[in-house]
Amino acid sequence: MDTVRVTAPPRLRLDVTAPGDKSIGHRSLILNAAARGEATVTRFPRGADTLATLSIMRALGVRVTETERSADGHSSTLRVRSAGAQGLSEPDRVLNARNSGTTMRLMLGLLAGAPLTAVLTGDRSLRGRPMGRVVVPLRMMGAQIWGRQDGALAPLTVRGAALTGRVYEMPVASAQLKSSLLLAGLSAAGATTVIEPAPSRDHTERMMAAMGARVRREAGSVSIEPSEMTASDVTVPGDISSAAPWLVAGLVHPDARVTVRGVGVNPTRTGILDVLREMGARLSMENEAETGGEPVADITVESSDLNAVEIGGAIIPRLIDELPVLTVAALHARGVSRIRDAAELRVKETDRISSTSAELSRMGARVEELPDGMVIYGGQRLVGAVVRSHGDHRLAMTLAVAALAAPGETIIHAADSVHVSYPGFWQEMGASLA
Ligand code: S3P
Repeated sequence: MDTVRVTAPPRLRLDVTAPGDKSIGHRSLILNAAARGEATVTRFPRGADTLATLSIMRALGVRVTETERSADGHSSTLRVRSAGAQGLSEPDRVLNARNSGTTMRLMLGLLAGAPLTAVLTGDRSLRGRPMGRVVVPLRMMGAQIWGRQDGALAPLTVRGAALTGRVYEMPVASAQLKSSLLLAGLSAAGATTVIEPAPSRDHTERMMAAMGARVRREAGSVSIEPSEMTASDVTVPGDISSAAPWLVAGLVHPDARVTVRGVGVNPTRTGILDVLREMGARLSMENEAETGGEPVADITVESSDLNAVEIGGAIIPRLIDELPVLTVAALHARGVSRIRDAAELRVKETDRISSTSAELSRMGARVEELPDGMVIYGGQRLVGAVVRSHGDHRLAMTLAVAALAAPGETIIHAADSVHVSYPGFWQEMGASLA
């Protein structure tokens, strides 16, 4: 499904279950591989990113067997058996993280202290994304890593080495960087402390603690002592980043009611809900529960009159992946919205400041780029147009949401990029509009 055509329906009624969380899916395998023993991962999401991690695990000798697959083919129950990071075997091929930054950055931390040499690469987009932010502090811990531009870019070769813990103040609020250093810290001599400029998603710390690692969390920092972890079962909650397009569609469409079930609402991920509420969204949460150490809830939204908003500062890491789709909410709002402090958007799967502005502009949006964000002029009338995803899953879904509330037909090229995080996205939309 390389090209998808979307026409706005007169009424939008949706009741969907969010696919499993991509961030937690990666960690369920990587952390269980760093642990010893056997565990079950339930609702493992079969997006291309998490499947890249799965394939790398197998190449390193981790035993992963699928015991069940969902009827739609998009999630699995897995049994994972590992002898820990020191028991990984040297791969006989290059490890390909494909489009997945999380895979590459977390694997660098895991492999930095493992007794083997491995080569990591990725697709064209990933080979252009900054790896120096991880390679530099790992080297300070003693890691041996080589790559293009002195290790700033993949392909990268890692030769496992004896590591020493240290205190590192991160220049960016990145959960991938934090997680990579914590993984390295598991086998490093002494304590490793990571100081964060703002709180980022904490799934790694939660899962490591559940596996028995000696992790200590304080305001603004996380520390880890060298630890042996024990494999633990993980039930993957729904992905709030995949729920986000449906929620925004339900708010901006003039006659809509949308429910997304089983959404992970870990406070380090719910920046989007805070912003939507501030914009005046009619949004409610029900059936709040806990799944394997992570809070979940069903979220319902209805067509709403939205107001412009300023998004910046410490909230940015709590909604970084939702900023493209929030742009659509801002386009439907009254007034001028601004996104600031989000220069990280420029080094995602695409430069999301420029790709989001360019494609939404084709639909009539007025969006101005800032070096670290966007100015979004609300109240513009969007109309169907020919647009493309630039191979970026989040942009494909953002364009779909814009199309659901724009008169005329929107033709979205490279729409199959949704397979990275949400392979059932178009089927879900087709079924709901049928
Ligand atoms: C992720 C962290 C974020 C996010 C990415 C997933 C993770 O990246 O954008 O989609 O799973 O840790 P950064 O850590 O680079 O901000």
